[in-house]
Amino acid sequence: TPKIVKTRAELKAAMAAANPGSLGFVPTMGALHSGHASLFKAAREENELVVISVFVNELQFNDANDYAKYPRQLDADVQLAAAAGVDIVFAPEASEIYHAGLPLVKLDSGALGEMYEGASRPGHFDGMLAVVAKLLHLADPRRGEYRAYFGQKDAQQLVLIRRMVADLDYPVELRAVPIVRSDKGLALSSRNALLSEEEKEAALVLHRSIQLIAGRAARNEPLYIEDAIGMYQMEPLVELDYFVVVNPDTLQELAFNCQDTPFTGEGLVLVAAKVGNVRLIDNQPI
Ligand code: PAJ
Repeated sequence: TPKIVKTRAELKAAMAAANPGSLGFVPTMGALHSGHASLFKAAREENELVVISVFVNELQFNDANDYAKYPRQLDADVQLAAAAGVDIVFAPEASEIYHAGLPLVKLDSGALGEMYEGASRPGHFDGMLAVVAKLLHLADPRRGEYRAYFGQKDAQQLVLIRRMVADLDYPVELRAVPIVRSDKGLALSSRNALLSEEEKEAALVLHRSIQLIAGRAARNEPLYIEDAIGMYQMEPLVELDYFVVVNPDTLQELAFNCQDTPFTGEGLVLVAAKVGNVRLIDNQPI
């Protein structure tokens, strides 16, 4: 079973005792599922030591109710981490991370942080970067190889973390891990636990609509995004926020995507919708 550490000092001591030639770090907010496990397994395959963090970061919640409702289950999380071969679980209290209150010096996610998810969650990406910036330092082994693992599930988050790591010269190699889905295609998310069975069924439209566009892209056909958007009109439980095809690196919307032009090149389909009170996101590279 993994070693559970609560403070920076304990984390540092546990990492020093292991003195690994390579360290894989996976930050999470807990309520772990097979999506997280696939990150842990990727880290396990490539590193001598695997460290994860479980920390529900208040700074990245723009909605106090969402923060309050976020599932917390450390015992179950430790069991899942154990099964995936995790060595150290860092599960700090908020006071351990934001020791002198909230940070005075802030990271600004810029224009990229105001698009898509950022548009409906003001401050979310700044708060996310604030904690990832700190956690990447706290888990830094200082010698040997250092890799951090993130899910493609949160595509915009991943792009922003890539930019932060490049812009601030973090000495860490980033690894992206593909989306893990339920048998029926729903992208696994800790928030799925808040959906009723009926809502879960309705939420499958996210994947279906993406698949429609991905299929056309694979056949180099015109995408006709409006067909995908139309699928949401048949799902009264689902309220579409955005459905766009973007450049995978800049997340700028691709210009041709509403025209009759056959699709060539590379893109990323991004979708977000609300099912009941739960915000869901999904995406797929095309
Ligand atoms: P959390 O939502 O717990 O996700 C932790 C990591 O697991 C993220 O990199 C996320 O993309 C990945 N992940 C979640 N569901 C996945 C799935 N179905 N398939 C593949 N990967 C999946 O993302 C966060 O926490 C936070 O913003 C964090 C980075 C920890 C900062 O607080």
